[in-house]
Amino acid sequence: MQIYKAHVLFTPDRTRFEVIENGYLAVDEGKVVGVYNSLPASLQDVPVRDFGDKLLIPAMNDMHVHAPQYRNQGIAMDLELLPWLENYTFPEESKFSDTAYAERMYRRFVRDLWRFGTMRTVAFATVHKDSTRLLMQLFKEAGMSARVGKVDMNRNCPEALQESVEDAIRDNEALVAEFGEDELVRPIITPRFIPTCTPELLQACGNLARKYKLPVQSHLSENRNEIAWVQELEPESRNYGDAYDRYGLFGDTPTIMAHCVWTAGEELELMRKNQVMVAHCPTSNLNLTSGMSPVRVFLNEGVPIGLGSDISGGHDLSIFRMMVYAVQVSKMRYCQDKSLAFLTLPEIFWIATKSAGTFFGKVGSFEPGYEFDALVIDDKELNHDNYSLLHRLERFIYLGDDRHIVHRFCRGKEIHEPKV
Ligand code: GUN
Ligand code: FE
Repeated sequence: MQIYKAHVLFTPDRTRFEVIENGYLAVDEGKVVGVYNSLPASLQDVPVRDFGDKLLIPAMNDMHVHAPQYRNQGIAMDLELLPWLENYTFPEESKFSDTAYAERMYRRFVRDLWRFGTMRTVAFATVHKDSTRLLMQLFKEAGMSARVGKVDMNRNCPEALQESVEDAIRDNEALVAEFGEDELVRPIITPRFIPTCTPELLQACGNLARKYKLPVQSHLSENRNEIAWVQELEPESRNYGDAYDRYGLFGDTPTIMAHCVWTAGEELELMRKNQVMVAHCPTSNLNLTSGMSPVRVFLNEGVPIGLGSDISGGHDLSIFRMMVYAVQVSKMRYCQDKSLAFLTLPEIFWIATKSAGTFFGKVGSFEPGYEFDALVIDDKELNHDNYSLLHRLERFIYLGDDRHIVHRFCRGKEIHEPKV
């Protein structure tokens, strides 16, 4: 057992922060035992690690990011989704047939997730099995938890990124054999999106998810041209979400759909019914001119939601910065439609931590039984005039960066900087 002493802040529900000034947080076997105002008599003999005047908060979860697009971060902002994929994204992903190139990029990617305090990641790799495997090994070496998808696609993309349905099944099964039972890093079935997957491949993906009880991730209703194209490709489907559902890829196993900018009506109802999680990616939606996702509607309807950086549609890997963007986008949306209240700070913090964390089990809170995924924030540089603890956290979220994150924990273990 271990006790950590610091100012403890977390969001047990979306309406409020729990704030324990100079609190004691007890951890046993990687899980939170309790948070206390003063040290209980029964824990007097447990070693205490004292973080002094620092903040102790849950670690971040990135629910949607493309690891192989890391080189393209912060460039190529002049096109919308479909031509952007064709001109910038597919050419970069083609390079990942070379595992030496993949290693160089993926090491940097994992190191930078670490820097920004993201201890759980749901990532797309590429179609290439060997470099996908490498990414999974790098997460494991770092001690950071991840769900990593070998991307499946077999149409409407360059030949070099296409695979046969048989190869897709074989490669996914090889990764399941190696990582299927792993505690930290597991595979996730990843059909890229309907336009790049034939019905046969989508069916094979659905079968794999069911057979091996694997989660699923893909993209949904991001861009209006994309949605129109999906309707042409799957004319029988009632909506884009239903097109996935027909192949067992929409909540039969835990499922994350990125974006959902234009989700409404029956698609929204299906997400609620099947408890499909939205990965909200505000920077990507801004950069690719996709639109403003109706996050308030998802909250009202009880659709699960988390935040994603979506590098390189998104340009920023920090989930703290993503909270700020999400709040700001919700305010612009509110300006256009006053019936959808903008997001508050406790709401967005809860979305990024406890709500997203449900995908990994009991993650993202400091209630008893939760896995101890945590960050220690040294904000003395930002706290120049005795701000309240809540304002200190708010200022760190708005103004802080990786330099203020001084310790990181995943599942109870301190995680040190991975080698690049
Ligand atoms: N839809 C299909 N592939 C992608 C991708 O790589 N990024 C984004 N933002 N949307 C996609
Ligand atoms: Fe994406």
